[in-house]
Amino acid sequence: MSTTTKQRVLLLGATGETGRSILQGLLEDSASFEVEALVRPSSTAKPGVKALAERGVNIRVADISGPIEDLAKALSGIDVLISAIDAGSQLAQIQLATAAKEAGVKRFVPCGFITVAPPGGVMALRDSKELVYQHIRKLFLPHTIIDIGYWYQISFPTVPSGRADYTAIIKPNSAIHGDGETPTILIDHADIGRFVARIIKDERTLNKSVIAYGDVLSENAVFETMERLSGEKIERQYISTDEIVSARAEASAAAKADPTNPFAGMMASLQDYNYSKYVRGDNTLAYAAYLGYLDARELYPDFQPKGFEQFVRDVLNGKGEKRQAMSLP
Ligand SMILES: NC(=O)c1ccc[n+]([C@@H]2O[C@H](COP(=O)([O-])OP(=O)(O)OC[C@H]3O[C@@H](n4cnc5c(N)ncnc54)[C@H](OP(=O)(O)O)[C@@H]3O)[C@@H](O)[C@H]2O)c1
Repeated sequence: MSTTTKQRVLLLGATGETGRSILQGLLEDSASFEVEALVRPSSTAKPGVKALAERGVNIRVADISGPIEDLAKALSGIDVLISAIDAGSQLAQIQLATAAKEAGVKRFVPCGFITVAPPGGVMALRDSKELVYQHIRKLFLPHTIIDIGYWYQISFPTVPSGRADYTAIIKPNSAIHGDGETPTILIDHADIGRFVARIIKDERTLNKSVIAYGDVLSENAVFETMERLSGEKIERQYISTDEIVSARAEASAAAKADPTNPFAGMMASLQDYNYSKYVRGDNTLAYAAYLGYLDARELYPDFQPKGFEQFVRDVLNGKGEKRQAMSLP
């Protein structure tokens, strides 16, 4: 395929957790994409940015809170703009969307990449994303919203022997919410980018929301898989629906009382996830269909994402990624 037919994709957040999966997915399809990274001026000297350049990724430096004209210039010639900005910075994308419209970007993928949930007071993170989506729609800016459920990497329980601890972000992790029966949409971190690469070259997904995933499982099924494959018994810590509701109220009050404290914001966000996933039961394919999402597994039946069982086998065989604390969603 000649390079003139490739889409020029600019990725914001290529050095972040979600962004590095997207970057890898795009680079794996080099016949379709020329990939560039949007980096803020204060980050240009970071080793992660240098590593991008070493992988052949062109760097565009821009301040997304700077003047619109400068930002629009920085976006010139871009076909697809993807944002994987951190959870706390969602509203900075409003200006980015305005500049994308001015620059004639053909598709903006704002930072979705979370669970299925409705707007309007269920999850503060979802609500900040929705403000960006509303702005995009007011601009008539072509776009695609991609959600992915919850990563396998933050959904598996640890085992008593400690053999999964090297790759666990939350440890020990043995919490079951409610009766553990509510199904929830899950994905392997590495498959996020592979789905994104398919979705952004598909006309069917223009101005639509898409749900991409590897498995849909209840917590009881997740624990059963871990126990069966490890041969270890996991002591469950049950958290009742009432406890989830009151923990969410407390975390939300603490975050409101101390709005510049990122840890308080993160804890409030985690409690919102628990409430949405396990009390309301939002993060399901039925609810995604009700909200009008396209199903990426139906759109791309040729692509087989990693299933949760294979993920657990990899973890137990030491093939998971070594992980330390990260910014939780
Ligand atoms: N579904 C799930 O299970 C799950 C799990 C985790 C995260 N998420 C979601 O995924 C999204 C991304 O989160 P993440 O954890 O991947 O983020 P992250 O690891 O914190 O990465 C954020 C990226 O955005 C860049 N960035 C931040 N501000 C910027 C700016 N002003 N200009 C240019 N670049 C900027 C950062 O670059 P520098 O700081 O180096 O400049 C970094 O590359 C969030 O919405 C989050 O809620 C979902």
